[in-house]
Amino acid sequence: MMINSAAGGIGQSISLILKKHPLVDELALYDIVNAPGVATDLSHINTKAKVTGYNGVKELDAALVGCDVVVVPAGVPRKPGMTRDDLFKINAGIVKGLATAIAKNCPKAFTCIISNPVNSTVPICAEVFKTYGCYNPKKLFGVTTLDVVRANTFVSECKGLDVSKTNITVIGGHSGTTIIPLLSQIPGVTFTESQIKSLTQHIQFGGDEVVKAKNGKGSATLSMAYAGARFVDKLLQALVLNKTITACSYVESPIAKADGIRFFSSALKIDRNGVQEYIPLGKLSEFEQNLYNECIPQLKTNIEKGVNFVAQSK
Ligand code: NAD
Ligand code: LMR
Repeated sequence: MMINSAAGGIGQSISLILKKHPLVDELALYDIVNAPGVATDLSHINTKAKVTGYNGVKELDAALVGCDVVVVPAGVPRKPGMTRDDLFKINAGIVKGLATAIAKNCPKAFTCIISNPVNSTVPICAEVFKTYGCYNPKKLFGVTTLDVVRANTFVSECKGLDVSKTNITVIGGHSGTTIIPLLSQIPGVTFTESQIKSLTQHIQFGGDEVVKAKNGKGSATLSMAYAGARFVDKLLQALVLNKTITACSYVESPIAKADGIRFFSSALKIDRNGVQEYIPLGKLSEFEQNLYNECIPQLKTNIEKGVNFVAQSK
């Protein structure tokens, strides 16, 4: 497994969590700065995973060779007042470069994109993989687990549920109003109209809440590391233990194809070969259907922006 940008806020924390994971044999930690320091520090922890550090672009290929799972939390985070799309200018090029290296060195790996704007960086990665003839849409994931984690937390707090048994489906994309929690599908739970509105708003703009609270010092890192590790844990269960797991992720998907949308997040069944089933959305409430209708044009713009970026830089 390889953690890209391992010295960053998310990178360090997710590396720490995954160093303890019993199914991880090796953690290859790459960053353009400080990777050896983080790797040496983590390597003293008495758990099974062997930790190696790779610093700077000259060592990127070596970091990636042989990886089964690659996690990409590379690039700049938001500051107050910014949208995730404002990060495109810097992060699009970073993700494109890393996707190229993945295509060259471990084209069969499960690739997990955390870098924002996820709605555009996943299409960028897909287009780069296509250029190298190695695109497998079943193995490229935009990590939207933090939206699910937030939904589980906020809804459990509001309704007094056992959070460990709460698993809410969140569909759409990963930015503001493209994030659509399906609160109407939580078994045995009913909400007032005002609870639905306020919980949905809280889940959609949870990221902004953290950006504001950090006041210029970045965005969610610890909850993101937890969420990313939770998603990777599921992939490892599929890959190593040969299980079929269920998780939400932003992938190339048939789910919203009828509305002209190529990438969409929904619940998926995933096994060792990648996505095996795109779980249908089921019945949406009128409120959720309106959110879906609002999400579609935004996602379309975000996806086109990513695809065009790769086309124009060829
Ligand atoms: P950070 O600034 O703490 O870390 C970013 C790291 O990226 C740094 O270590 C930096 O050296 C590294 N980096 C820069 N250019 C690179 C390159 N070319 N190759 C490899 N690494 C490079 O930022 P962070 O808080 O860890 O956030 C990282 C990204 O994750 C941001 O884009 C942020 O918006 C995104 N994010 C996504 C989610 C999500 O739910 N998907 C949640 C939180 C944050
Ligand atoms: C989040 O949801 O916390 C991340 O996408 C980071 C951000 O910019 O909000």
